[in-house]
Amino acid sequence: MIIAPSLLASNYTRFGAEAVRASRAKAEWLHLDIMDGHFVPNISFGPEVVRQIRPLVRNVFDVHLMCSNPEILLEPFANAGADWITIHAELGSKVEGLIWKIRSLGKKVGLAVNPPTPIQVAEKFLPKIDLLLVMTVNPGFGGQPFISEMLPKIQQAANWRRTTGLSYRIEVDGGINIDTARECARAGADTFVAGTALFSKRQMGAAVTSMRKATKAAAGKGGR
Ligand code: DX5
Ligand code: ZN
Repeated sequence: MIIAPSLLASNYTRFGAEAVRASRAKAEWLHLDIMDGHFVPNISFGPEVVRQIRPLVRNVFDVHLMCSNPEILLEPFANAGADWITIHAELGSKVEGLIWKIRSLGKKVGLAVNPPTPIQVAEKFLPKIDLLLVMTVNPGFGGQPFISEMLPKIQQAANWRRTTGLSYRIEVDGGINIDTARECARAGADTFVAGTALFSKRQMGAAVTSMRKATKAAAGKGGR
């Protein structure tokens, strides 16, 4: 199980210190929500923030591009220190080329599916991706309530992984706390993005550890 605190929910006056807090909390990844004010009605932060926090921590940088034209952002984020780069299936005909471009930059490839989008949209890309992100809120803002209707999509993603023998990670993002993380783990998720539920805690380490333990227990022996 991987816990990925989302910097979107951190104190924007202290990005570096907040990244270090996530690292000291023993989170494996740091989730970086990049919003362009067009694909989603919000703007977050850019490659320069990622570049400056890169040397401060050893966390895997999981960059989630909620952007309409990610093709112009792939190299800047790859150069800034991204390890995984996720784009949205809603970009339609652009997806194939974007996957190829991320791969050509030597980065892991993620594909995200928004709540209204059928998970079947992702099926043909499964052999080409390293991570399938099932959004559990409509993207744009942290602190939104978990959409439990997304659980069957997670189960479907897990079924495909089992029947195909592929090994992509199943990530969930939005409204994830210890309870909803447990539900998602039971459905087959193995990578948990949590912003508010983790950065709001004074004892972030305890919160990360509890979420990891709860998801491992919920997933049972098959947990990753
Ligand atoms: C999409 C963003 C958020 C963020 C975390 O809006 O991707 O989901 O990561 O949000 P919370 O605070 O709900 O964990
Ligand atoms: Zn995200």
